Amino acid sequence: MTHPLAVLVGPMGSGKSTVGALLAEALGVTARDTDADVERLAGREVSDIFVESGEEHFRALEKQAVAEALATHDGVLSLGGGAVLDPDTRALLADHRVVFLRVGLSEAVKRVGLGTGRPLLLGNVRSRIKALLDERAPIYASVADVTVDTDQRTPEDIVDEIRKAL
Ligand code: S3P
Repeated sequence: MTHPLAVLVGPMGSGKSTVGALLAEALGVTARDTDADVERLAGREVSDIFVESGEEHFRALEKQAVAEALATHDGVLSLGGGAVLDPDTRALLADHRVVFLRVGLSEAVKRVGLGTGRPLLLGNVRSRIKALLDERAPIYASVADVTVDTDQRTPEDIVDEIRKAL
């Protein structure tokens, strides 16, 4: 069974895709993203799956995609932000090198990039992101071997720290 060299977890806006691509390049391996795997599996975009079939259906597809990628991918793997909510997925992660990309609220809101110029929406996005960060930070920490702070840092700097820790 192959193993990813590193599995990146963290909330939306933590930089998993950007850091994952850069880290893979630095290590000379390929980057894979479970959101893209789910989209391929479903033939639809993640947002359409949520709207048309509901979050539960998305989570089932995601669980399948994560298990498959953990078993077959030997590069860098980025998980969708909510993948760690599944207990079976968390159990699988115990056998992997997991890096938690930690991000603070303001930085996450900025990176997700919604609602600029729309105070009402911005308020909602901010409080929604705050709720997700509060609820999930302990879960990410529980599956992680390494935690890397990403606030006010460049992706290159973050990749350097991950490489030292691997
Ligand atoms: C989600 C994060 C998204 C995507 C879906 C749900 C979450 O992935 O899987 O919209 O529950 O945090 P990213 O973390 O890559 O944005």
